[in-house]
Amino acid sequence: MPFLRRLRRWWHMRNPEIRWIVEVGVKEVPEEANPAPDRMDQPYPFVSKYVDENSYLLDDPDIMLTLFRSVVDKREEHIRLHGLPGEIKLLVARPDVANGVYLLAFNGERFRAWLLTYYGVITAVRLDEAGMGTSYGLRALRWLDEWTGSVDIVKIRLRESLYSWGPEFSVYIKGLDNQHHYLVTTLNNLYKYLLAGSARRILDDTLNALLDYTKFHFRSEEVLFDKYGYPKAEGHRKQHQTFVEKASDFMEKYKAGEARLTLEVLHFLADWVKNHILTSDHDYGEWFYEHGVPIVEEKLVRRSREVRAKLGLDKL
Ligand SMILES: [Fe+2]
Ligand SMILES: [Fe+2]
Repeated sequence: MPFLRRLRRWWHMRNPEIRWIVEVGVKEVPEEANPAPDRMDQPYPFVSKYVDENSYLLDDPDIMLTLFRSVVDKREEHIRLHGLPGEIKLLVARPDVANGVYLLAFNGERFRAWLLTYYGVITAVRLDEAGMGTSYGLRALRWLDEWTGSVDIVKIRLRESLYSWGPEFSVYIKGLDNQHHYLVTTLNNLYKYLLAGSARRILDDTLNALLDYTKFHFRSEEVLFDKYGYPKAEGHRKQHQTFVEKASDFMEKYKAGEARLTLEVLHFLADWVKNHILTSDHDYGEWFYEHGVPIVEEKLVRRSREVRAKLGLDKL
């Protein structure tokens, strides 16, 4: 059954357990799946005619945070929408009323999507696809429909953290593991502050601390590369440099008020850190171990390899 029909059916079921945030899992999205928006002839009848313009709402952290807060606190929130061409000028988020405003967040393996609904009408859609970028409005809705033929709603969950540090992140050196752990904790703190709608000053301080600590951490790794003659040091250093440039560029714009800290930005930072530790940092850990570098701890190697094997990480 097409995704949107299932969504409507689900909507009408109004299962009291199912409220705002729904996570879905993707089963068997075929490799060759290629979104083809032009094949859909008519816009969905239950979509607001302003869905395209309104969809940019979902890039507005204030609106997102107010909605999240309303969900978490189970309390009514009024959100005034300025400068939008739609008919909706005020969103009233009422978690206890089945037909109020719903924010549905879909997390699939290859996409992430937000749908904002207002009294049963889809008013805004945003879709992030790996390798495809972000699309909004009707286009995103059509693509989502194409993509989600194999999606099932599996459970309700508002993630409490981005991800947590585990032995699979270990680089076999206690000091560097502690630094990575601290980086992950800081990213999670930032995520919590963002969802909680914390004051700008708190977000600023955390962001600054994150960037400073990241630079310090990169230097710690590079000092060890030089000390022990790690052969892939140059490429690794370049990865660090590119990340620092991107993050500094964002910070400049952020301080000048030209960029905002959104969940998307945070996901970019967090994903980069995670992938970097699990692949590039893991590489030097292995090399240090194989070359008998004395700061490597055997028990960390054993534990990490065990967990990585279970997670199938080394097959990548
Ligand atoms: Fe690292
Ligand atoms: Fe690194």
